[in-house]
Amino acid sequence: MIIGIIGSGAMGTGIAQVAAQAGHEVFIYDTNDAALTLSQHKLEATFLKLVEKGKFTADLAAEILTRIKFEDNLRAFSNCGLVIEAIVERLDAKRSVFGTLEEIVTSDCILATNTSSLSIAAISAKLKNPERMLGIHFFNPAPLMPLVEIIPSLQTAPEVTLTAEALIKSWNKVTVLAKDTPGFIVNRVARPFYSEAIKLYEEGLADIATIDWAMREIGGFRMGPFELTDLIGHDVNYVVTETVWTQFYYDPRFKPSITQKRLLESGLLGRKTKRGFYDYREGSSKAAPNTDQKLGQEIVDRVLALLINEAIDAVFMQIGTAKDIDLAMTKGVNYPKGLLQWANEIGLETVLNRLTELHSFYGDDRYRPNPLLRRMVAENQSFQLS
Ligand code: NAI
Repeated sequence: MIIGIIGSGAMGTGIAQVAAQAGHEVFIYDTNDAALTLSQHKLEATFLKLVEKGKFTADLAAEILTRIKFEDNLRAFSNCGLVIEAIVERLDAKRSVFGTLEEIVTSDCILATNTSSLSIAAISAKLKNPERMLGIHFFNPAPLMPLVEIIPSLQTAPEVTLTAEALIKSWNKVTVLAKDTPGFIVNRVARPFYSEAIKLYEEGLADIATIDWAMREIGGFRMGPFELTDLIGHDVNYVVTETVWTQFYYDPRFKPSITQKRLLESGLLGRKTKRGFYDYREGSSKAAPNTDQKLGQEIVDRVLALLINEAIDAVFMQIGTAKDIDLAMTKGVNYPKGLLQWANEIGLETVLNRLTELHSFYGDDRYRPNPLLRRMVAENQSFQLS
């Protein structure tokens, strides 16, 4: 099958690499010639590195690269079996590109969007055949992150979902099925990792170095929330939080932080601008964390209780199966274990007690325990994850 990729930025380039490595001929298109050239150079450099590391022979790397064709005309996509769109995150731009594409591809071509925050329903609504369209959401960097969320819209034909799922699995990816709701699974469930950590800092419970230390060393997360948001960039991370919050009709559970907004407004976007929560300029030093175990545990317990509550809500609202929700967080954002498995290990009653205490202390609906958690505790149940 020939694969078409629209948009040769960070995601499009990565997805093109994954598809070519899986043996497909790939066409990649961008309206910006410089972006196409950059994508080609990036892929050449990537394969050079992979050869140096011994992952591919030089011959195989060259063969994979020749499978990728860089196109400045969408007409080249006429024989594609699947087209994945990864252009700028704007509804009008995405609708327009799919409108053009629909006139070019054959009727059995599957159309997919890699959107992180727009609804699949809205993007596909204007298509002549919305049943052939769905969300196929990769994580950054696409060649390294195993997870792909598969998101059918209300109008997607079941066989389109099944075909897309099987194909992406054959690319050596782990797929999870997610409902077409804000943030899908990962970008919804992960919100408290950032927002509750920032709230702890705003309240003065601990400084950023201490919260990062606690989440890493006691929580087992690969990076702390402040170093991670500095790496992601506050422009990207804040906008995801704000989008999820507004799309959930301003549910306080997802409320963004003013501290992070101020960083964004100041242009302190993180590592890429050399300042964010931390200072990365030459000569600057990082404050040492307070390594008090009791404080560290308190930080982890609070953030984890909110993350677990969010994972439980995703089960309750049928966004995905319990198994898929755990898979999504371990394979999409490298959590040390699935949040529902973690809940089972801590004990659902302990999680409920932590949330109830926070809810009663703050009187803020952000901490309200999920009804499914209450019910499972009342019925002495745990999550079945196998
Ligand atoms: P990017 O800014 O790196 O690349 C976007 C590319 O699309 C640019 O090269 C631009 O020239 C091109 N483009 C813009 N309008 C176009 C059009 N009408 N036709 C053809 N090409 C056009 O963006 P990035 O980060 O690769 O994101 C792309 C999509 O993937 C967005 O929908 C984003 O939400 C989603 N996404 C991004 C992730 C990330 O971490 N960067 C993760 C998962 C999804």
